[in-house]
Amino acid sequence: EFMKEVSGLKVLEEGIKNQLQLRQVVIVPGNSDTSPWVKNEMGRACVASMNRYLKEENIIAVTGGTTISAVAEMMAPESKNRNLLFVPARGGLGENVQNQANTICAAMAEKTKGQYRLLHTPDELSNDAYQSMIAEPSIKEVLALIKNSSMVVHSIGDAKMMAMRRKTAPENMKKIEQCKAVAEAFGYYFNSDGEVVHRVQTVGMQLADLEKIETVIAVAGGASKANAIRAYLKQAPHTILITDEGAAKELIRET
Ligand code: BG6
Repeated sequence: EFMKEVSGLKVLEEGIKNQLQLRQVVIVPGNSDTSPWVKNEMGRACVASMNRYLKEENIIAVTGGTTISAVAEMMAPESKNRNLLFVPARGGLGENVQNQANTICAAMAEKTKGQYRLLHTPDELSNDAYQSMIAEPSIKEVLALIKNSSMVVHSIGDAKMMAMRRKTAPENMKKIEQCKAVAEAFGYYFNSDGEVVHRVQTVGMQLADLEKIETVIAVAGGASKANAIRAYLKQAPHTILITDEGAAKELIRET
């Protein structure tokens, strides 16, 4: 019975990989919407995938959120003597402290006995503040590391849920709704065609920078995230997707 289930998931992995033109797909059993521990299993699968793609020297940019926090939970001290430096992918996005990239980045470094650097910038910057932030030497240094990341680990969220969680200003909330945003990743909001319809202005990695990064791992699951996952991945082929059966079954249903 167990083997049957595993081979079923393998078929599903292959199907989604081809459908969305991804580099690799890993599906863990269950649906994290209804079974919270499934998020930990995605975390475990993500750590295994990271281990596979790590090199001798690594700069690993990470985002925030409960899924990536579960990835941090599953990490263990680096056993192959590789250098791991964790950085937050982007500056503040309006998340509570436990969901912030800085927090998770420090947690990962602690778990792996690696290094970390943080971005001490306020959330959502005005143009003027943005320009002065990126000219600040201490920030410049971290930004240079971020741009040179060898790996990115991020999640994908439902647009409306993320906008609400971040207490988005009413005018932006309206824009996000009117533009029919369905997905959110890195502070960028996407419609169902995978087009950017809104973005939070903050320092760090910008969407275009992703193309230059060798290994990009997206970890997102739960049947409720399927539309968001599909929309985001339309503009991010070659991503390694770690997901769960709940999301995967929805993903394969509608092409
Ligand atoms: C974060 C990303 O990693 O996770 C967001 O920066 C994403 O873009 C969010 O939407 C999803 O959060 P959660 O709590 O569902 O993992």
